[in-house]
Amino acid sequence: MRFVDSSRKEFIDHLKHFVHPSEEISIPAQLVGREDELGKLRDCFETNGAHAFVWGLRGVGKTSLVHTACAKYSDTVKLAAAVGCQKRSTYQELLKDIYRRATNSGIVNLNDSSIKGKLSLFGVMTLEGEKGGFREQLQIDSVNHASDFLNTILPKDLYTDQEWVIIVNEFDQLENQETINFFTSLAKQMSVDKVNVKFVFCGVASNLNDLIGSHESVDRYIKAVDLEPLNHTYTLRIAENIFQEFDVEPSRGQMFRISQIASGYPHFVHLIVGEILKECYETSFHMRSIGADIYKSSIKRAARGAATRLQKEYENATRKGTDRYIEVLWAAADGQLLVKQFKSIRSGWSSPTEVVLRYV
Ligand SMILES: Nc1ncnc2c1ncn2[C@@H]1O[C@H](COP(=O)(O)OP(=O)(O)O)[C@@H](O)[C@H]1O
Ligand SMILES: [Mg+2]
Repeated sequence: MRFVDSSRKEFIDHLKHFVHPSEEISIPAQLVGREDELGKLRDCFETNGAHAFVWGLRGVGKTSLVHTACAKYSDTVKLAAAVGCQKRSTYQELLKDIYRRATNSGIVNLNDSSIKGKLSLFGVMTLEGEKGGFREQLQIDSVNHASDFLNTILPKDLYTDQEWVIIVNEFDQLENQETINFFTSLAKQMSVDKVNVKFVFCGVASNLNDLIGSHESVDRYIKAVDLEPLNHTYTLRIAENIFQEFDVEPSRGQMFRISQIASGYPHFVHLIVGEILKECYETSFHMRSIGADIYKSSIKRAARGAATRLQKEYENATRKGTDRYIEVLWAAADGQLLVKQFKSIRSGWSSPTEVVLRYV
C-alpha cells in the first residue's frame, strides 16, 4: 500500500489487519517463530485426554499462539469458547461464562430439544427476567457434575470428529485457590470420562508450579507449553513482514534497533512499527526509507505508550515502603539477561542514571 494514494479509512483498515499490539493474532501467516510450540499444541490436540497450559511472561504471545493453533488445526479442533479469569472468579461463574459464550455463538444449539431436556438436569434454565431479558441458573456441585455438563453442551460431532477447545485465559489472575483446584481436577476428570473437550489454560508465570501447584499427576493430563521471548531473528522478521505490507524499507540499523528494544516481545514490535507507520501516513510519506526524525519521534511515542503500562509494575517492584529497591532493579536490568545472581548484581552495581544513559 502507498500512503499517499490511500484514504485514511483504507490505511487504518490495513494497519488494523497487520498491526495489533494488544489484540491477539489468529491468522497462521502472521504468527512468526512459533513452529515448535504450535507442534506441541497439535500433539496435545491429537492426544486423547490431554489438555494444555501455555505459560510465559506478558506480551510474549500466549493468547496468539492458542488462537492461531485453533485456526491452523481446524480439522482436529474447534474453538467452543474463550473466557478470561479475574481475581475472585469462582468456578461457577467461569462455567457460566463458558456456557453463555458457547450459547451466544450458536455452538450450543438450544433449539435441539434433546440438549434442552438434558440441560434441565443441570439446573440450567432460561428464565424471563423483569424486563423480558433472560437469565441462566446454573448449579454445578462437583467436578463430576461439571464434566457431565460440558459433555452435554459440547457433544462429539460424529461427522467431523473435531474436539472442542475451551480457552481459559489469564489463569494467573485467580486468587481463589478453590477455582484453581477445581479446574485442574476438572481437566483430569474430563480425561477419565473421555469428554470430547480440551482445556487450554494460559497464564503469566515464570514457573508453572507457582500457578497450578505441583499437584501429583497434573503433568500426566495437562501438557505444559512454555513460551520464551522470541529470538532476534524472529522479532526482526515480524517488523520486516509488516513494513513490507506498507512498501516501507527502514535501514538495517533501524530494524535491528527496533528488534533490540523489543527484546523478544512481539507486543513491542507491533507497538513501535505501528507508531512509525502512523507517522508515515500523517506526513504523507512517499519514499521507502525512513528518515531519522520520523524514526526517533515514533520510538519516543511508543515508549511513552508502553511506559504508562509499565509504570505501575515499576512502582510495585521498587516502592515497598522505601525507594531502596530502585537501584537493585536497575542493576538487574543492566545487561541482556534479566536472570542474575545477586553476587553479580552487587559487583556490577550501576546507578539508574548510568544504566539509562548507556541505553539511550
Ligand atoms: N509469534 C508472533 N508473531 C507475530 N506477532 C505476535 C506473535 N505473538 C504475539 N504477537 C503479537 O504480540 C501481541 C501480544 O501477544 P499476546 O498473544 O496477546 O501475548 P500474551 O497473551 O502472552 O500477553 C499480540 O497483539 C500480537 O499482535
Ligand atoms: Mg494473553
